Amino acid sequence: MSELQTNGKPTKEPWLILVGAGQAAWALGLALLGCGVRVQQVIARPNGRGAALAQRLQAQWVPWKTGEPIASAGPNDPDQPRLTLLAVSDDALQEVASSFGSDQTDALVHCSGTRSLDDLGGHPVRGVFWPILNLSKAIDTPWTGAPILIQTDHAWLEQTLLNWAHRMGAEPRVVTEVQRQKLHLAAVMTANFNNILLHWGHRLTQDLGTHRDLLPILAQQLNEFKQNSQDPLTRQSGPAWRGDQRTLDTHLHLLQEDPEGTALYRWFSSLIKRLHHQYPT
Ligand SMILES: NC(=O)c1ccc[n+]([C@@H]2O[C@H](COP(=O)([O-])OP(=O)(O)OC[C@H]3O[C@@H](n4cnc5c(N)ncnc54)[C@H](OP(=O)(O)O)[C@@H]3O)[C@@H](O)[C@H]2O)c1
Repeated sequence: MSELQTNGKPTKEPWLILVGAGQAAWALGLALLGCGVRVQQVIARPNGRGAALAQRLQAQWVPWKTGEPIASAGPNDPDQPRLTLLAVSDDALQEVASSFGSDQTDALVHCSGTRSLDDLGGHPVRGVFWPILNLSKAIDTPWTGAPILIQTDHAWLEQTLLNWAHRMGAEPRVVTEVQRQKLHLAAVMTANFNNILLHWGHRLTQDLGTHRDLLPILAQQLNEFKQNSQDPLTRQSGPAWRGDQRTLDTHLHLLQEDPEGTALYRWFSSLIKRLHHQYPT
């Protein structure tokens, strides 16, 4: 047990133990290392990307199969606090967390937008560190000014996570579980779903060899969303909103060899018509 637990607050900066070697593990590991956090170990499944990540983070590589004992977890110095960040698939969280008791780590944290603090099981010091960003091994993460939502019942863990997020250049905020889950739902519906629509924009402009003609209208929309706190429906336009049936028919004709695009177009257009009907003019 480290000084972190006996005194109730950290006397030393915790070392990081990172579990997982996917997109979030790479992005968060590199960002935390870059702002001076010592990454002690990378623990991940034997045949995955863990060895490469450990090497990149100058950390010890611990291959581990879920459910089996962890070969070597924790530093030799009993006074050195350890914080374990689980960057594994949401569905694997409970199972993976059950292997990390207070003898393995002083604090257990996950980085999921929706999964509960309770998914970390009975560990006495639990937290969530969720960046509202797309994380990827391949693309540099724009941390500056990005929100990182923090949830924990422990003041010292809250201070550590706030400190780390500030050092990354992000804008951390302490939230409740329900606030975080609602923001995750909003992020999925706006960014994740929107990427599918961008995919159609890309496909439909393939003949032109570029999708750049769509950039000004998309930038205009994003800028209005940024500047204006009103409901974006106040700025809705397009054939379904106006009720221009012949234009809708032409678009459906153009999509006739694309059943998924047709289904998407029909569904969105009928939704827009219903919203227009309900919308106070
Ligand atoms: N990517 C994002 O944009 C993003 C953003 C914010 C938060 N997050 C959160 O970050 C966490 C990880 O997501 P990700 O995008 O990094 O996923 P990912 O790229 O699919 O990586 C998932 C990792 O979990 C490991 N894993 C899966 N099942 C496991 C099990 N049963 N036992 C042990 N390890 C297991 C995988 O191991 P293998 O390498 O062996 O397959 C892999 O290392 C999730 O909680 C997610 O909600 C992701």
